[in-house]
Amino acid sequence: MPKKKTTEDTAVPASPSAAPSTPVHSEPKHKPLAIQPEINLALVGHVDHGKTTLTERLSGKWTDTHSEEMKKGITIRLGYADFTIYKCEKCNFLTTKEKCIKCNGQTTPLRKLSLVDAPGHESLMATMLSGAAIVDGALLLVAANEKCPQPQTKEHLVALQISGIKNVIIIQNKIDLVNHEEALQNYKEIKEFLSNTDFKDAPIIPISARANVNVDVLLTAIQKYVPTPKRNLDKDPIMLVARSFDVNKPGIKPEKLVGGVLGGTVKQGKFKIGDEIEILPGYMVEEKNKKVYKPLNTKIVQIFSGGAPVPEILPGGSMAISTLLDPSIVKADSLTGSLVGITGKLPLVHYQVTLDTHLLERVVGTKEETEVKPLAKGEILMLNVNSCATVGIVQDPSKKNTVCILKKPICANSGDRITISRRLEDRFRLIGYGILK
Ligand code: GTP
Ligand code: MG
Repeated sequence: MPKKKTTEDTAVPASPSAAPSTPVHSEPKHKPLAIQPEINLALVGHVDHGKTTLTERLSGKWTDTHSEEMKKGITIRLGYADFTIYKCEKCNFLTTKEKCIKCNGQTTPLRKLSLVDAPGHESLMATMLSGAAIVDGALLLVAANEKCPQPQTKEHLVALQISGIKNVIIIQNKIDLVNHEEALQNYKEIKEFLSNTDFKDAPIIPISARANVNVDVLLTAIQKYVPTPKRNLDKDPIMLVARSFDVNKPGIKPEKLVGGVLGGTVKQGKFKIGDEIEILPGYMVEEKNKKVYKPLNTKIVQIFSGGAPVPEILPGGSMAISTLLDPSIVKADSLTGSLVGITGKLPLVHYQVTLDTHLLERVVGTKEETEVKPLAKGEILMLNVNSCATVGIVQDPSKKNTVCILKKPICANSGDRITISRRLEDRFRLIGYGILK
């Protein structure tokens, strides 16, 4: 099947003023669901095990994007796709369609969710997800027709473990390609692989994403094992910026200019229209041959979620805000990796970090699984925290507290987890994490 490409990875419409004003779910018979998804579910697993196919099966959206930035592994864009779980009023079947696909009966919407698709070849994506702390649960896909575990199956599982994600469902996909005995053998391999991890009791659901087999069982498992967490909406709100852009068409009349738009996800708390916000570390300027970052202060003019304007926004799914910022400052993703918060309430900006480091014993994600050597003075690391990927140069690699000078500053709290990747055989591999001192 040819892969369709989508360019949208946040919910913002082309122009804020052109946004549709009707909610997506407006069935007359039921109270409409909120426009915003309740939770973020990450899809992880080895290359070609079916993550994007399952995303399309559930949401109808093909999330594969292979931008140049992604290949370079610096700007990381997450592919979000929303879907709703409905229950048939007649036969109780769970489906992602508004009419029951089994008996054509009326359905009731139960919950709206957002899938975050992570390409298997881009292992950094899983690393990034584990540093971002925005995921409420994960689906780990394992192809039934291959030996388990494959290198990225392991790497992604370690990333989930490092991030402390508890709610994980293992999906044994492509069962249409194996017979009963092969499926059982593969199930045993999965069980054996999980036995030494935090996820030894995780449910394993056999499905075929392509042939649409057992997807209802998976939906039941998601309802059971990944509940919507109770959000503490009194926390100071934080939004992670994944993209920033200018939505004005060239040649637009000055009086029609719209302020800069930021796309991303809410990590905690609640934002509303009219909030006075601060953006840190902000935008980069060169001063006396040095790169420095300037904080930005502005106001939220509009908020978008699920393709529609909303008055306020909580964690769950991708979202975007339009602001009063000069659009030229935010264009071309200049603010990717920054945090948005209420003025004066954001974490500190660090140009240098001290990390209490926890390195893995072995490098995961490679065939050989070599030992992880200690950090060396002058070594260049990739560090991920929130939506920020930065480069850190190791200064003092003394065992526990490692000092790194950062190429690009981060905005993070003491106690935050920062994932550490090292360049091995031409790409960055997850080797551990550090707790910011
Ligand atoms: P990356 O993003 O590259 O890591 O791959 P992915 O995990 O997103 O896999 P993708 O969904 O692109 O699927 C890879 C191939 O497997 C495609 O040709 C799919 O059509 C096929 N595939 C996915 N699920 C199934 C399934 O359940 N059965 C069969 N037979 N093929 C499947
Ligand atoms: Mg994919």
